[in-house]
Amino acid sequence: MSDTTLPPGDRGLPLLGETLSFLKNQFNFVDERQARFGKVFRSHILFKDTALLVGAEGAEVFNDESRVQRSGAMAPHIADFFGGTSLPLLDGATHRRRKQQVMGAFGRDALTQYLPVMEATVERTLGRWFAAGEASLTEDLKDLALEVIARTMAGSDGGPEFVANVRDFKLMVRAFTALPVPIPGTKYARAKAAQARIFDRYRAVLAERVAKPTNDGLSRMLAKPAEDGTLIAGEDALKELHHFNLAGYITFAHMARGLVALAQDTELRARLRAEIDAHLGTKAITVEALHAMPLLENITKEMKRCTPFVAVSFGKAKSDFILDGKTVPAGWMVMLCNFASGNDPAIYAEPARFDPDRFAEGRAEHQKHPTGFFPQGVGEPLKGHMCAGVDYSTVLMKTFLVRLVRDYDTTLPKQDLSYRWEKIPPEYASGLRAVLTKR
Ligand code: HEM
Repeated sequence: MSDTTLPPGDRGLPLLGETLSFLKNQFNFVDERQARFGKVFRSHILFKDTALLVGAEGAEVFNDESRVQRSGAMAPHIADFFGGTSLPLLDGATHRRRKQQVMGAFGRDALTQYLPVMEATVERTLGRWFAAGEASLTEDLKDLALEVIARTMAGSDGGPEFVANVRDFKLMVRAFTALPVPIPGTKYARAKAAQARIFDRYRAVLAERVAKPTNDGLSRMLAKPAEDGTLIAGEDALKELHHFNLAGYITFAHMARGLVALAQDTELRARLRAEIDAHLGTKAITVEALHAMPLLENITKEMKRCTPFVAVSFGKAKSDFILDGKTVPAGWMVMLCNFASGNDPAIYAEPARFDPDRFAEGRAEHQKHPTGFFPQGVGEPLKGHMCAGVDYSTVLMKTFLVRLVRDYDTTLPKQDLSYRWEKIPPEYASGLRAVLTKR
């Protein structure tokens, strides 16, 4: 293939390519190159020729299974952290079968049952912050997300096993931006050992659920046959359970972004509070009530659009494809740039502004293109790679916002609210300090 048809961009150093600058700050890597080369550009990352795609058209291609596949897409050490063969790494009939089984954990009845657990966990966290006077929130928000997943999906009681799992999980995610050097003492080696301990603990939980099912997510998943009648079992179930943690952990970043936005914009907070008072008052939260509040919905959408969580999703070109007049050859790694796409000025006016009304009827900026809004993927969960936890995460984020805004005023002491972009997801440099006072 002639180089003139390939996407523009640099290949970087011999062998290493642009791997180091990519790992150092993936968000900046994308922004800087998008500014130089446009919405489709090439690089050489983790030893592979790579095409990076930004925007709605890129999302359309990325989700077309005839052009982009998921197996073989991630660097092997990252794939390993995702369980090796969990949903984001599968294709075709194998993927669909697994997805039908896994979605057993995410039905409406399951969400209805998880919601009081989510609300109680949120309530305890907010109560602790209130009692502390001034609290540092980032680590607590991570623990909140992980605790909700552990309680609802693995029937955890939040005891010592959970605490050990959280410690190991945090060791593991630290290695996502490290080079995979399996020498004792490296971040990578510590992460692998932590992952092995997590799997050992989950093996014990799985044995218990197989012997005596409950109504946690794991039991629901084990009980849900795919269309062909097959059931998920053994290590496959463990890999999916493990991936729920990785996938759901990032909600901490969204909740942090929402809290900051509502503390900074007191008018927006007052509007949301009025909506909550009108729809819910002091009653216990229900899934129906959460879905009946349009401003709450738009704030949640805006949190999903403008929270940096991951810079890219991983795919691999299954066949040559053309995008923006450039050919991406079969076999190349393909990265869909999630965060940069949510900030595309072709879809979103003043993308840097936190402006939930951009989703309101009349404006509906996200509807400018069928794939103009894809913070959790494209299409329906059962038909492709759309996030299995799309409703689950929405319910968690909304529950958090409702209890925060209904019960407390939040103020942010003077602090550095710039992001530490080298982390995934990026975190506020200050650790996010806040003071909650009773409403
Ligand atoms: C706001 C929070 C979340 C965001 C932004 C998010 C985002 C995403 C994205 C971008 C994908 C990949 C879509 C694609 O490959 O096209 C995905 C897939 C997935 N997510 Fe989420 N997710 C979130 C929460 C969750 C939660 C809480 C869970 C489970 C408890 C979850 C489970 C999954 C699973 C299982 C997949 C793989 C689906 C597949 O490949 O078929 N996610 N998510």
